Amino acid sequence: MYSEKVMDHFSNPRNSGKMISADGEGVIGDVRCGDSLTIYIKVKENRITDIRFLVFGCAASIATSSMTTVLAKGKTLEEALKITEQDIIKALDGLPKIKYHCSNLGITALRKAIQDYYEKHNKSVCQKVFLFISKYFYSLKKRIIFYLMYHFNKK
Ligand code: FES
Repeated sequence: MYSEKVMDHFSNPRNSGKMISADGEGVIGDVRCGDSLTIYIKVKENRITDIRFLVFGCAASIATSSMTTVLAKGKTLEEALKITEQDIIKALDGLPKIKYHCSNLGITALRKAIQDYYEKHNKSVCQKVFLFISKYFYSLKKRIIFYLMYHFNKK
């Protein structure tokens, strides 16, 4: 039997929906039940300022995803990484034991979103210079090809 809080978060999920131009995105699926979850985060000065989720799954996965976002919102990345499955289960006033694994989806997707953020934003100076140069040369190459095609087609 689900607690009132689980039913509340299931029927009225907080922070649900896709986020356009997220700073970090974490996707996880559970092969045993086929449920999947995506968590999006917006980060400002090392703090999660906005968080959204899209879930395809059971009532418990919807409730635990919703609670994961509630617990993570406003926290620093380090604080958010410390959230555990037990924190989510406790915040929902418990879950049936058979549904414990559902809380794992939220935690894993959140950690992946933070990892994704770190990978995208904590690049070294060398990596940033390399990225800039490769992007610049890619667009330069495209312009040269375009110019040559235009030039030869004119004749
Ligand atoms: S039954 Fe698999 S996440 Fe809920």
